Amino acid sequence: SQIQIAVVVGSLRKDSFNRKLAGALAKLAPSDFSFKQVQIGDLPLYNQDDDANQAAPVKRLKAEIAASQGLLFVTPEYNRSMPGVLKNAIDHASRPYGQNAWAGKPAGVLGISVGAIGTALAQQHLRNVLAYLNVPALGQPEVFLQHKEGLFDANGSISADSHKFLQNWMDQYVDWVKKHLA
Ligand code: FNR
Repeated sequence: SQIQIAVVVGSLRKDSFNRKLAGALAKLAPSDFSFKQVQIGDLPLYNQDDDANQAAPVKRLKAEIAASQGLLFVTPEYNRSMPGVLKNAIDHASRPYGQNAWAGKPAGVLGISVGAIGTALAQQHLRNVLAYLNVPALGQPEVFLQHKEGLFDANGSISADSHKFLQNWMDQYVDWVKKHLA
């Protein structure tokens, strides 16, 4: 049976490098894995007053996470942290208290930026949040990518230089998810 992965991309930008990376990664996965990007751009700003009556996009997000067996976070770095849109989505699906949709789902964390540290600090902040939410995140190998022209080919696949590195990451991620299947 298919293993469903909910992909959370931390950028809303149309030509997002991180969304491209998420698409390229999905192509490196075995055929029993399917990847679905969850939409976070239409979520309202989180407001605790709404916990008892969550908006439709929040309910949709939580249902998509609940239906998945694993998580994949692909995020840019904004001002040395994760983007607010990503934190907003994480907060939404963690509530109401006691109904944290993320809990127990094995996760991968990676990202790409134009800056030289390749989202290292954003990922570290994200890992901190995920630890609190009881999300087991794959620790190694780490992936910090700096965007260079030609990283993605015309088909959206990862170019030869980085292909082997990311294939190894995917192989480890697949093992990590399978290890956590109930
Ligand atoms: C950035 N960028 C950035 N890059 C980085 O490596 N470290 C950082 O702290 C920041 N900070 C930052 C803040 C804000 C508000 C923006 C808009 C951008 C640059 C960032 O890497 C670049 O815009 C990427 O293209 C964003 O990822 P997507 O949208 O292409 O996926």
